[in-house]
Amino acid sequence: MTEQQQLKQALEALCIWYQKGHRDLPWRRTKEPYPVWISEIMLQQTRVQAVIPYFERFMKALPNVQALAEVPEEQLLKLWEGLGYYTRARSLQKAARLVCEQYHGEMPCTYEKLISLPGIGPYTAGAIASIAGGQKCPAVDGNVLRVVSRLFAREWDIKAQAVKRQAENELREVMPENCPGDCNQALMELGAMVCLPNGAPLCDSCPIAEYCLARERGIQQSLPVKAPKKVRPVENRVVCLLWKDGRIALRKRPGKGLLANLWEFPNFLEGNDLQEQLGVAVTDIKPLRTAKHIFTHLEWHMTGVEAKTEEGGYFTWVSPEQLEHDIALPSAFRVYRTIALQKK
Ligand code: ADE
Repeated sequence: MTEQQQLKQALEALCIWYQKGHRDLPWRRTKEPYPVWISEIMLQQTRVQAVIPYFERFMKALPNVQALAEVPEEQLLKLWEGLGYYTRARSLQKAARLVCEQYHGEMPCTYEKLISLPGIGPYTAGAIASIAGGQKCPAVDGNVLRVVSRLFAREWDIKAQAVKRQAENELREVMPENCPGDCNQALMELGAMVCLPNGAPLCDSCPIAEYCLARERGIQQSLPVKAPKKVRPVENRVVCLLWKDGRIALRKRPGKGLLANLWEFPNFLEGNDLQEQLGVAVTDIKPLRTAKHIFTHLEWHMTGVEAKTEEGGYFTWVSPEQLEHDIALPSAFRVYRTIALQKK
């Protein structure tokens, strides 16, 4: 049997397995492109269980493209608070506005139209076009690459773009015509529930075990090969809960770079002078606990400090109630946000 025939048969078996039973996830109860789009964007860097409540709240608040296009940014970011990678939310809104202008608010479901929208790459375009549009487009992410590399016992570097393109091409050739959406979701489901990463695949319950070359050779645990992890640079930062008359100081981050344009507690690199950095005179300085936050390319190791001032400085002063209900604060500050909210 050629590899192509092997993949075709495996995908057919996989679709049957998926159609017999799969996780009942809220975005799988519809084939409308708008909810499928929202879910796929949320799922890009976030686990399924964490996404579920965000997805449900988002769909209630913004049930269609129009609502997303028109929502004030602060409210949108509040709905996204805690999911991280806020560029995703901003791109969603940009795309929604384009859909209103170009397609009268009707979310497209062809690959060509989807790929031209902000924040939609080949994976997301493929997922929406196949699930909502019935188009024969693959949706290849890390999970799918793991399944395919094991199926063919390939020592693929799954971070390489060329590898991704190869998998997309191979899948496109043999995906079933009648249910490409199910086929993509079946691959995702297998990757999430059976063909698990980190050396623990559940081959005994795999519907395509008979086709799997890695299993036949007993090397499924060592595939895909992992490139050595890059060490992330560490920044030691001091995060400040600065109070004035029961209100707390916030400021907006710069428009470019990390956490662009989002709110933050004043913070600065350790080793600098507190008052100089804040630009106001402070009293009642108290140390707070340490915390860590890991970004994709950077780690923040934070220590907290609490202080009082009587000067306004360049800050925006908010009440703890506003902090809780109106302001979207990046998760990097979660520990200090919790401490601030205890003062309510
Ligand atoms: N991960 C990415 N897309 C997904 C989907 N549609 N269902 C479950 N997990 C996913």
